[in-house]
Amino acid sequence: MSEECVPAEYAEMDLIEAKRFDKKVRENFMPAITSTVKQIIEDYGALEGVCVDVGCGTAIFAIELCKHSRLKIYALEKEKAISEVARMNIEKERLADSIIPVLGDAHDLPFASDFADFIVSRGSYHCWEEKVGVFKEIYRVLKKGGIGFVGGGFGRYVSEEESNRMKSLRDHSLKENAKAYRSPDKLRAVICKADIANFRIIHDKAGLWAELKK
Ligand SMILES: C[S@@+](CC[C@H](N)C(=O)[O-])C[C@H]1O[C@@H](n2cnc3c(N)ncnc32)[C@H](O)[C@@H]1O
Repeated sequence: MSEECVPAEYAEMDLIEAKRFDKKVRENFMPAITSTVKQIIEDYGALEGVCVDVGCGTAIFAIELCKHSRLKIYALEKEKAISEVARMNIEKERLADSIIPVLGDAHDLPFASDFADFIVSRGSYHCWEEKVGVFKEIYRVLKKGGIGFVGGGFGRYVSEEESNRMKSLRDHSLKENAKAYRSPDKLRAVICKADIANFRIIHDKAGLWAELKK
């Protein structure tokens, strides 16, 4: 993984750094997580079946989604220490029956084809080295009739004040070339190259997202 694609703070963390990362997300970005989950439930209804969260971090998002759905969530993360903190968070919430931490890479998803009813990925896209390949993987793993929701942002339910505060924190930590991936045209081009026809780009207050349907 090249340095430019993975923000330094995610690459090869040890457990102490991963716990610090977890604390930082909780302190600074919780409104974005609750807002995006609220939006997902409002837009896609009572979700059930199998979900994969690609680039789940410490599973804060997966835990919130689990609490508002009947999904069984496979929380995939490539950094070992972050995945370990995800496992601890899931156990602390007593959700180990519903959320399974999986150590793995988005470029080679360790799931069978047509496995998931819902695939979500928030805030991980800018890190992927071979974005077309990851979208192909996501589409392969999606079941017929399934939905993918991939992108980044704070969801439509954050206040303007929260949004501005989180934007400045996020932009401060992102490298310039990661910011460039916030272009809807680039995202559309990547998905077209992955030979996915049934999708739409959402670029609004909620952030920049791709909704995939199979
Ligand atoms: C900004 S965090 C987002 C975490 C979580 N999705 C959220 O919404 O809070 C991005 C995460 O994606 C992970 N990631 C980056 N590239 C990945 C890859 N190729 N495969 C799996 N995870 C990846 C990073 O290690 C990091 O934990």
